[in-house]
Amino acid sequence: MSQPEITRASTADLYDAHVLKNYGRPALTLVRGRGSLVWDDQGRQFLDFTSGIAVSALGHCHPHWVAAVQRQAGELIHTSNLFRNPNQGELARRLVGQAGPGRVFFCNSGAEANEGLLKLARLHGMKKAGGEEGKIYKVICAKSAFHGRTFGGMSATPQEKIQKGFRPLVPGFAFGELNNLASFEALVDDQTAAIFVETIQGEGGVNPATPEFLLGLRDLCNRRDLLLMLDEVQCGVGRTGKFFAYDHAGIRPDAIGMAKGLGGGFPIGAIWVGEKAADLFQPGMHGTTFGGTPLACAAALAVLDVIEKERLLEKVTVNSVPWIASLRALANDFPSQVLGVRGCGFMVGLQLVNDPAPTIGALREAGLLAPAAGGNVIRLLPPLTATPEELARSVEIIRAVLVAQS
Ligand SMILES: Cc1ncc(COP(=O)(O)O)c(C=O)c1O
Repeated sequence: MSQPEITRASTADLYDAHVLKNYGRPALTLVRGRGSLVWDDQGRQFLDFTSGIAVSALGHCHPHWVAAVQRQAGELIHTSNLFRNPNQGELARRLVGQAGPGRVFFCNSGAEANEGLLKLARLHGMKKAGGEEGKIYKVICAKSAFHGRTFGGMSATPQEKIQKGFRPLVPGFAFGELNNLASFEALVDDQTAAIFVETIQGEGGVNPATPEFLLGLRDLCNRRDLLLMLDEVQCGVGRTGKFFAYDHAGIRPDAIGMAKGLGGGFPIGAIWVGEKAADLFQPGMHGTTFGGTPLACAAALAVLDVIEKERLLEKVTVNSVPWIASLRALANDFPSQVLGVRGCGFMVGLQLVNDPAPTIGALREAGLLAPAAGGNVIRLLPPLTATPEELARSVEIIRAVLVAQS
């Protein structure tokens, strides 16, 4: 008996029909990845310098990561936090080893990590106010920040395009100018509990906080008994050639939010809280069902193993120097199209004169995937494993596209 023919709708059609319209329409359907490369459903190959927006730290399907996740998936996947699991304990130990004495809480995304930090700020404020709630609760963030799409994250993100439609927001946020210490200092009052900034703004256009600014914030927080909380969700876990981007400035924050690269593609977020504030969260005050599962923590431990074994921090540091130099040379050669190059390590922004969308489309057609950021910026976020040849190839592709567009 002949089977009725099954016609499968294309992935694009399925998205158009059934996926909520909160994202713009993607240009590609990706089906496979290896290292720095991905392939679409038409068999076309791309150099992937989007890395899932700074997530795929080890590139795609790194054999050590795949083996660790496969092994753990066959052993124990989820337990909830009603029980301990060995991987969560070990991952917390490793992160404390990177960040310094303190404690770690695990969650599932960057926004959720930042929610944890914002709740921590409230608890610090309550302690400062002698246990009274709602007296000291303000958090000072930076203009052009991006901290996520939850209510707390959005409220800390002063962008019309992010906040529009969702007001009223969480009260208590004020915004200074990144790298203008006086503007932050002027906002501190008796109700201020914390300062919260990205060490390098990602979505805002790859805007690094300068070491002087970070040192100044550290001093301001010390003087006024504020928590210095750093959002390392995008720039952390090796992306700049140090484990945390603030390591370049030689400071230590009171708390850190991380996610993205930590799981190498498996969803996991975390906050590290230094000793000053590590005891503020007491049993029952915070939690999440999926936080720190054996599987998520196995993925993150595999990322940390590979960063160490393959000396990826050194590689990012060394390999980024000629790469960024060639990108700067490009900016010099095409001054009517490129305004400049910002960032460090493998978190770089190419600021264009005009809207970057047509250039991003042309790069894609030429085989390079890179996301946009605010302020006419094209972000280049190679996996930490990207080779000098792949980095050089990205510059060749960008040069060819700029020539074609000039
Ligand atoms: C600095 C920063 N913080 C927070 C977030 C939110 O992370 P998630 O999308 O995992 O919620 C992002 C995401 O781009 C980010 O770049």
